[in-house]
Formats: sequence, structure tokens, C-alpha cells
Amino acid sequence: MLLRCALPADIPHIAALERSPIASEFVGHWSEERHQATLASSDARYLVADAPGGGLRAFAILRGLQETSGSIELKRIVIATPGQGLGRHILQELLDIAFQRLGAHRLFLDVFEDNPRALHVYRSLGFVHEGTMREAARRGSAFASLHLMSLLDREYAARPR
Ligand SMILES: CC(C)(COP(=O)(O)OP(=O)(O)OC[C@H]1O[C@@H](n2cnc3c(N)ncnc32)[C@H](O)[C@@H]1OP(=O)(O)O)[C@@H](O)C(=O)NCCC(=O)NCCS
Repeated sequence: MLLRCALPADIPHIAALERSPIASEFVGHWSEERHQATLASSDARYLVADAPGGGLRAFAILRGLQETSGSIELKRIVIATPGQGLGRHILQELLDIAFQRLGAHRLFLDVFEDNPRALHVYRSLGFVHEGTMREAARRGSAFASLHLMSLLDREYAARPR
């Protein structure tokens, strides 16, 4: 298991990863204060993977743990060095945590429509495209559209491992 629960001391590394050139185009940037408040909430779970030399190689945020619908959101995921297979591995661990440990009925996320690497990984893990939230986000001076994707517990259970 690469992931562990985050501690308040991880937040500066998480905020820095969000702002890294590789991620900043595709994920939102919260203040450290907002992260600390969300980390402290029983509705969210922060998960991190340590880098061998210190710092973090990845983080993810699950949200909606208190929802009676069982719909948990993968609010954010960032891999420090993409394209080396770590994201797929960590997402697999996140699915196990969401469905086996947290009892999710549905795990959902949104992803910019021009993020082909993320879309490829989500699709290959079984996430289904539910629809497109047209121009739902602002990037600089432009609006951008987001695909809404989800995986249900029975789809998770039926996936080949
Ligand atoms: C999206 C992200 C989490 C994926 O993690 P990763 O470690 O890069 O992913 P992996 O290396 O495990 O897998 C990448 C896959 O995408 C494929 N891929 C890479 N570039 C691609 C492209 N332009 N189009 C389609 N597929 C692509 C790779 O071939 C690989 O597929 P495979 O395993 O079937 O061969 C990571 O890239 C990341 O943090 N990106 C920046 C932040 C971000 O986009 N977060 C998600 C917001 S919704």
C-alpha cells in the first residue's frame, strides 16, 4: 500500500503539487488554510504517497464521506511525476479504499475534457462518462468544459483485476 492518511504537515507539499507546472492546468488550487480545514473535516479523506527522498510523490482527496447517498467524490489527484504508471496504481488503491473501506456506492469525479491522459486512465479503470458540464470551469480568461465520470460499486466488483 503506497497511500497513507495525510497529516497537517503534508499540506504545504500538497499545495505545492497543485501548483506544479504539470498539474496546475488540470486541477484547482486551494489555499493552505482551505486544505487544513478540509483535512480536519470528517467529510473528507486526504491520502498521500511519500517520495523516497522526502516530500510527496502523490496526493488525492476524497470528499462526501458523510453523504447518505454513498456517492463519494474523488475531488483531486496529482502525481508528481506523471506517465510512469504510478497514477494507475494509486487510483487502484483509491478504488479499494472508497469501495471496500469507506463503503461507497458510487465514486465520481470531473475531469477537463482536454486532459487525455487522465481520461484514458479513468476509462481504463472502468469509469463511465455520465455527461459533460459545459464551460463549467474558468481557466484564466477562458471557460472550459468538464466530463463527469463515475464508477458504481457493482462495476468495481465486476472489474477484472
Ligand atoms: C492524471 C494522472 C493522475 C495520471 O497518473 P499517471 O501516473 O500520469 O498515469 P499512468 O502513468 O499510470 O498512466 C498513464 C496512462 O495514460 C496514457 N497516456 C499518456 N498520455 C496520454 C495521452 N496524451 N492521451 C491518451 N493516453 C495517454 C499512458 O499510455 C498510460 O496508459 P496505459 O497505462 O494504458 O499505458 C497524472 O498524470 C496527473 O497527476 N496529472 C496532472 C494532474 C491531473 O491531471 N489530475 C487529474 C485531474 S482530473
